[in-house]
Amino acid sequence: MIATKPSTDYSVQIVPALQRIQHEFGYLKREGLEEAARDLDVPLHRLQAVASFFPHFRLSPPKKIVLSVCRDMACHMAGAQGIMDELRPVLGENVGVRGVSCLGRCDRAPAACVGITGEEHDHYHLGRSTGELKEIVEAYLRGEVPAPDLDADRGYGNETFVINPYGRDEPKYGAILKAISVRDKALGEATRILASKPGWSPMRIEQFRSAVLDRLEKRPGLGARPHAGGLVRYNFAGAEGG
Ligand code: FES
Repeated sequence: MIATKPSTDYSVQIVPALQRIQHEFGYLKREGLEEAARDLDVPLHRLQAVASFFPHFRLSPPKKIVLSVCRDMACHMAGAQGIMDELRPVLGENVGVRGVSCLGRCDRAPAACVGITGEEHDHYHLGRSTGELKEIVEAYLRGEVPAPDLDADRGYGNETFVINPYGRDEPKYGAILKAISVRDKALGEATRILASKPGWSPMRIEQFRSAVLDRLEKRPGLGARPHAGGLVRYNFAGAEGG
């Protein structure tokens, strides 16, 4: 018997189809899945297999608010499991609490984000205690929108990193650390000025701050920024990468 490889033409269409259903209903409603299975001419179980693989997809109607807490290593070490255990029983039936994989903010562990049904974007809250997260979620339930935690508002101190190969007392790195300090000060001042101007939301300021850092990364000497597991990444010739 000659084994034939199953057609994969439909496979690239499954994720977009699931996204459309979730966008329309807020979750993967059974009727939507059945219709997509007919349209794509694939068995329903293939759609369900993809849907259950990606944590992004919801298989049941969403709660009004979903608090996603990262449970990967950095956040686990920072008490993510305890946060979930404490908050699950006290936040009420309109709030779902779930553990998720790395949210990409290991440097601000524990990282959490709040999703509001009907809203496209999640709100990140970083380095918060259980009590603070509870207050934040309760504010969302009251219809308020607590300010997200942005890097523009919170500096990085060298002393907060356990691994710091560029210690302040190391003369070899004195010049670059000073340059970074001047850069961060100027950037902090710029973001403070923008915050006082109309039309500059915290999100837009964060985009500005990030764009400046990206631009500087392409220039030698000033492209250092904090990241998880170490202190900084340098682009200048002769220095170490992080
Ligand atoms: S480990 Fe939690 S954000 Fe990366």
